[in-house]
Amino acid sequence: AEDYFSFQSLAGKRVLVTAGPTKEALDPIRFFSNHSSGKMGAAIAEAAYRAGAEVILITGAKLNVDPGITTIEVVTALDMHREVLNWYPGVDAVIKAAAVADYRPARISRSKIKKTDESMTITMVRNPDILKELGEKKQHQLLIGFAAETDHLDDYAVQKLEKKHLDMLVANHAADGFGGDTNKVTFYYADGKKQTFDTMPKQQIGTRICNALASLFETSET
Ligand code: CTP
Ligand code: CA
Repeated sequence: AEDYFSFQSLAGKRVLVTAGPTKEALDPIRFFSNHSSGKMGAAIAEAAYRAGAEVILITGAKLNVDPGITTIEVVTALDMHREVLNWYPGVDAVIKAAAVADYRPARISRSKIKKTDESMTITMVRNPDILKELGEKKQHQLLIGFAAETDHLDDYAVQKLEKKHLDMLVANHAADGFGGDTNKVTFYYADGKKQTFDTMPKQQIGTRICNALASLFETSET
């Protein structure tokens, strides 16, 4: 199972993957977003599909994936929230690689905001924490979350795993992952187990995550 060339089967499983950033409009011209490229989520979706799963990909980035993958493009965190909640009851697992904006502007201006000589303050309101909500509504589903941190990776990873009722969390240092084709990740499991990897192509990480998911299915079914 350690060899990434060997796929563990996900046949018969329905897997929901989220990818990319969300964009939160301020006015018709501007938005708030983040550096997520969606490449990690795309790699996971492809790996799950090759492993035989039925895959639903909900993405804030334009991604070229196998046409056999049901792909739904979204813009805002609220869009992603609606789509994910809609699919949730019918899936066996959710892998939440998307970088969801925590806040959105309280108000979207209908016309372009003009500059003045003054400084500007924008009031932001909280977006729903989609993954936390999935954790609270969890029935048969397995949940895999992500965390990109600049510091205290270990502490934050374990906190997120517990707070969101996850089966597994994939953590990385922000500097290692965003934008590129490789990442250096650590897997944290609900039972306290932890697995660190060297830098790998995102494709290979996608396969590792899917193999880990297949093993989690095996454990949860016995
Ligand atoms: N997540 C989510 N909905 C949000 C924010 C985050 O579903 N509104 C998910 C992400 O997709 C990821 C996980 O939660 O799988 C962790 O996201 P992260 O931004 O690292 O954690 P937060 O809980 O938002 O905490 P903070 O940003 O303060 O570190
Ligand atoms: Ca966040």
